[in-house]
Amino acid sequence: MPQASGCAVVVAALLVGAAGGQAATLTISCGSNAADAEFCGRYAQEWGRQHGHEVRIYSAPASATDNLALLRQQFAARSASLDVVTIDVVWPGVLKDHLVDLKRYSGGAEAQHFPAIVANNTIAGRLLGMPWYTDAGLLFYRKDLLQKYGLELPRTWPELAAAARRIQDGERAAGSADFQGYVFQGRAYEGLTCNALEWISSYGGGSVVDPHGRVTIHNAQAARALDEAASWIGTITPRGVLNYGEEEARGVWQNGQAAFMRNWPYAWAMSQAGDSVIRGKVGVAPLPAGDGAGARSAATLGGWQLAVSRYSRHVPEAAALVMYLTSAEIQKRRAIGGAYNPTLPALYRDPELLAANPFMGELAEVFENAVARPATPTGLKYPAVSRAFWDATHEVLSGRMDGAAAVRRLEGRLLQTRRAKW
Ligand code: GLC
Repeated sequence: MPQASGCAVVVAALLVGAAGGQAATLTISCGSNAADAEFCGRYAQEWGRQHGHEVRIYSAPASATDNLALLRQQFAARSASLDVVTIDVVWPGVLKDHLVDLKRYSGGAEAQHFPAIVANNTIAGRLLGMPWYTDAGLLFYRKDLLQKYGLELPRTWPELAAAARRIQDGERAAGSADFQGYVFQGRAYEGLTCNALEWISSYGGGSVVDPHGRVTIHNAQAARALDEAASWIGTITPRGVLNYGEEEARGVWQNGQAAFMRNWPYAWAMSQAGDSVIRGKVGVAPLPAGDGAGARSAATLGGWQLAVSRYSRHVPEAAALVMYLTSAEIQKRRAIGGAYNPTLPALYRDPELLAANPFMGELAEVFENAVARPATPTGLKYPAVSRAFWDATHEVLSGRMDGAAAVRRLEGRLLQTRRAKW
């Protein structure tokens, strides 16, 4: 502020304050996927209009891995160009030094959200992100095709492979040359870590690094799970899956060209949209279990938070925007329009929300028991751990290594990354 005559400036400042603060221009980095960017942008601009601020939308890269790389670059440069950022559930430990403690601005609103998510977002007593939505891996299936081929919903991975094979053969014979049995996220990035953790955990093979920080990946069940997944490539799954993220898998599925898909809840809203060729034909179920001792269905815990950059020049306004976007009202609208699971337990009793997304009620156990990636025990080293894990998995899926060799080598790599401690 220029050094003008004292009194007039104070009065002017008070007047502006009373009117709700000076107009600011804020930039929010939106989007963990295509639809999220649209919803996030819409509500952020709504807040801007209500409060007389300009909100600019920066569309974040669709891949969580690319998104993190970009944020780390911005933060390393202490750039003020992003005020509000969406951060993945596995990032608070990685980005902790660059985010504002929101406790000063939240008025205690975090107490309304799932305590486990708030705990995940709190490091050394600092609330680094407000919960925005939560998710978990789900099995999407074509109800009409299960019926056509007289098949039951598969409960184990081998059952899924058999059903996918049967439907794929039948549809191809009937003229759909590109029809696929099963699609998922197989590119070498964070999404593959999520899929592979589900396979391994569903075979009772642990979670790569346990909550005490011990590297547990070198075990027979983990190897078996990876071998099972590799057997899908080129049989029920196209080789192209080795380069699929969420949206590539959904593209095949949404064109009616796949019997089964692993994806996050957002794919439900899109599958059911008015112009969708698969509208009314889609079922959602827990992912299949492995087989053998310790086998169970496992879903990786995902989800996003809204955070304020320490380098923002408009921290109070940015925090106010975060509080608006994470409120019950906006979470409800996003859930109904886009199938983003709210982080407010109270909304799971909302009949309108449950009517739009029946799976949010029916599959409550899937979300409650979702498996966490080992981000908390590995802290700042989580990105390296995840990269080593998805690389090893990608090698197995590509047929360059078998599961046993991959988990043995991965253990060595992880111990090297850890050294004395995480
Ligand atoms: C989803 C999940 C997120 C995960 C990402 C991987 O966006 O919410 O937690 O890291 O997918 O692709």
